[in-house]
Amino acid sequence: MLARSCLRSARSVGPAARNIASKTASRSASSSSSSAEEAASSWRTKALSGGSLAVAIGSVAWYNYQYGMSADAMTPAEEGLHPTAYPWEHKKWTKTYDHSALRRGFQVYREVCASCHSLARIPYRSLVGVAMTVDEAKAMAEENEYDTEPNDEGEIEKRPGKLSDYLPSPYKNDEAARAANNGALPPDLSLMVKARHGGCDYIFNLLTGYPEEPPAGAVVPEGLNFNPYFPGTGIAMARVLYDDLVEYEDGTPASTSQMAKDVVEFLNWSAEPEADERKKMGWKVLAVTSVLFGLSVWVKRYKWSTIKTRKLVYNPPVGGAKSPFKK
Ligand code: HEC
Repeated sequence: MLARSCLRSARSVGPAARNIASKTASRSASSSSSSAEEAASSWRTKALSGGSLAVAIGSVAWYNYQYGMSADAMTPAEEGLHPTAYPWEHKKWTKTYDHSALRRGFQVYREVCASCHSLARIPYRSLVGVAMTVDEAKAMAEENEYDTEPNDEGEIEKRPGKLSDYLPSPYKNDEAARAANNGALPPDLSLMVKARHGGCDYIFNLLTGYPEEPPAGAVVPEGLNFNPYFPGTGIAMARVLYDDLVEYEDGTPASTSQMAKDVVEFLNWSAEPEADERKKMGWKVLAVTSVLFGLSVWVKRYKWSTIKTRKLVYNPPVGGAKSPFKK
């Protein structure tokens, strides 16, 4: 059976194959340019398939180059060491700034950082009730001189500071600041906690993270100091905090980490003076909205109760329904 069907198919294929063979033979005999034509068409086919392959490989490679690889902008050393996370008290939902810490932190800023860093967005008035009394703030403002408005002759004179004045900057302008710091600009600290990735943790680690000696193999360019937390590890600011550098009036031991913690909390206040208000408002909003939520659940249940407790009953007529079409 199998053999017979094989024979049959061979027979039916036979004439067709013969036909094709004779056709190609006759075609090649009929024209002399046909072999050149064939060569050209096979070249075109090869070029087309080769080209599309190249385009396909190229676009996959381009896509991978653009989106495929995980791109690290910088090496870990260039990024800086990730700061350790600390449980900052003032960041907790139910906590406020510790005003003794703010007062100590402002003292550290004034006695240590203020010789290089400005705090230009903070007026004396905003320190009142936060880090000092009105009288203390007034006395401090008066220690500095500010320009007056031009008088009738257009002259600008000097006057003692007022509560509405802003804290003075250590340098006249950025160029003077750079000139005094080996070309590096000590940035304004008013918004520093918000301006750096890691915020409080970063600044704390930066201030306390200077090793005694740079580790073996570290390359520290001339005029820079090694700090693993600073992106690039070479920072123009040298270590500034040392134990007992300031004397706290409340008797808190002025260790390096205590001063760093206090000044960081103070800088957090200067960047977010509204934080306590915001948390208080947040709690009020939560209290009011949770009462309203409870109330709205009750109202919804009240309004829907008649619908939800409704019972639909169908009583079929006794003896079966009468069809209108039936007589
Ligand atoms: C002797 C001058 C000087 C003193 C004092 C000083 N700094 Fe700096 N600080 C600098 C300079 C210069 C830079 C810029 C560093 C750089 O770009 O390499 C800087 C940069 C910084 C930065 C920014 C780092 C960054 O990520 O860009 C912070 C934050 C900072 N200082 C905080 C402080 C605090 C807080 C104090 C006081 C406890 C202080 N500094 C005292 C000179 C000083």
